[in-house]
Amino acid sequence: MDVRSLAYLGIAVPDVDEWHRFATDVLGVPGERGDDGVLRLRLDERNHRVALRTAATSALDYVGFDVADDWALDEATEQLEKAGITVTHGTQEEADARKVQRLVSFLDPNGYRVELSHGQLWEVDRPVQPTRPLHGLRGLGHVVLGAPALSETIELYVRVLGFRLTDYRSKSLYFLRCNARHHSVAFASTDRQMLHHFFIDVATIDDVGWTYDLARSAGHEITAELGRHANDLAISFYLRVPGGFQVEYGTGGLDVDDATWVAHEFTVGDLWGHRRPTGDAITVAPATTK
Ligand SMILES: [Fe+2]
Repeated sequence: MDVRSLAYLGIAVPDVDEWHRFATDVLGVPGERGDDGVLRLRLDERNHRVALRTAATSALDYVGFDVADDWALDEATEQLEKAGITVTHGTQEEADARKVQRLVSFLDPNGYRVELSHGQLWEVDRPVQPTRPLHGLRGLGHVVLGAPALSETIELYVRVLGFRLTDYRSKSLYFLRCNARHHSVAFASTDRQMLHHFFIDVATIDDVGWTYDLARSAGHEITAELGRHANDLAISFYLRVPGGFQVEYGTGGLDVDDATWVAHEFTVGDLWGHRRPTGDAITVAPATTK
């Protein structure tokens, strides 16, 4: 299967209005409330990358990945069904809500709803405008999820969905790519479903620093200080966002050459920084996969 990129996320949060203010004032990310009450956050030329709806408790509603076109979506559906996975065809209403042409969905081994789609609305005539002075927003980099069924998840993503394993740590944190970007999704061994964070990609190190200063002075919880990851080389910080999960706000990051890259274990999480004042790190549990 030829998944092209991480397309979008759907997330439920207790207070969408609070998220809207937070996105506007702190993250510099524009959002629009639709008639359906959903807040859609814009990060690049796509109509949206993150859709937030109101619910009693926070949850990840779905993770959406792109395939190339309608034929690729048919092929992907066949491959999933051949692998014994029940595929549900999305309704026109769901496709309209995601601003895609067509989508299918299935549950991964952890119970996350994964959507495959094509043709999400590009709005090149309406360039994304940050809501505060920033050099630029560059999109949704990746998402990191807790995986109670880690080994089955990696098998599914690599063998069926066609992701490549980029690297891993302690056999409990796996980084997977579907294009040149070091990872579009990572899975950590956890005992329950968990949206750990998603990555907002900004244009420059100053954008990261400005937002760090602003978030800090506004009293928002910084969950990891400024730092640089040892594997994907992104410079970033993490902050707690309304709803309880985290956003990694950063820039840069490694592109991987499929022709030469070999998956490997990495033993150091960060080249520098990323100190976690609250001690809140991704759980590293004993090995659960080969
Ligand atoms: Fe990350």
